[in-house]
Amino acid sequence: MTDVYAVVGNPIAHSKSPLIHRLFAEQTGQDMVYEAIRIDDEATNFKYEVAGLISRGYKGLNITVPFKLDAFEQATSLSESAKVAHAVNTYTFTEKGIEADNTDGIGLVNDIQQNGGVSFAHKRVLILGAGGAVQGILEPLLDALPASVHIANRTPQRAEVLGKRFETDIPISASGWDAIPEKASGYDIIINGTSASLEGKLPPISPGVVGENSLVYDMMYGDKPTVFMDWAKQTQPSCQTMDGLGMLVGQAAEAFYLWRGVRPETAPVIAEVRALMA
Ligand code: ATR
Repeated sequence: MTDVYAVVGNPIAHSKSPLIHRLFAEQTGQDMVYEAIRIDDEATNFKYEVAGLISRGYKGLNITVPFKLDAFEQATSLSESAKVAHAVNTYTFTEKGIEADNTDGIGLVNDIQQNGGVSFAHKRVLILGAGGAVQGILEPLLDALPASVHIANRTPQRAEVLGKRFETDIPISASGWDAIPEKASGYDIIINGTSASLEGKLPPISPGVVGENSLVYDMMYGDKPTVFMDWAKQTQPSCQTMDGLGMLVGQAAEAFYLWRGVRPETAPVIAEVRALMA
């Protein structure tokens, strides 16, 4: 019997996950189907719907907005990354119950390192934003051993709290927009994890943070470069920019790996999804 998976969220009609997983399945020769299911916005419905999908034989789910916290709370067991992120985007259904994971962070790290060709090791990293999205990426990012991490946020206290939670041997500092430490030749890697791009807005940061060789990454994506990527290019035409489509495909690839035990290649899938978006 063909194994069935799905992404659940609300809204869900425009989700790219069914396309991405179909391309992964074709690439790796896996016999599976992947659906998109809309759930009404109440936690009780989430729990009820998930129980229904389990009884109908679904093997696993991806969970997206607004259910990542509900998914965390309803899990039987949580992976380290789900615990640290305090959010869940992947369920695997087994005899033991609901095994929950969070693959968003590793999706981003893999996208930058493999598709962007830039390793985090020994790099000075600037992160903009301190919300749920950033909370989910810090652990895998620190595991990749950067030289230092600075978190800047509109509400500086939120950045400070997050920085303290993730204290390791790697220097991690925090500030508001106007107190980002200057670096000679800019930061090596700059990641925009604010939701400002959604509204077409820019975090008001000094152009001095972008250097000639910086990699500037926006966790948002669209059918054209985001305002943040445009701003970075205007500031430093030679900098490298990436949007978050690769993170979306990367988190899907890690979920696919958890379910199927095969890790698909992301670059051809990113290219195909982008071509369809154009
Ligand atoms: P998400 O899950 O997308 O991270 P979130 O937890 O609500 O959502 O966090 C949104 C992030 O974007 C926060 O860092 C927020 O800043 P505050 O902590 O000060 O609220 C940031 N953000 C949202 N809108 C913004 C804007 N217009 N300009 C700058 N930062 C913005």
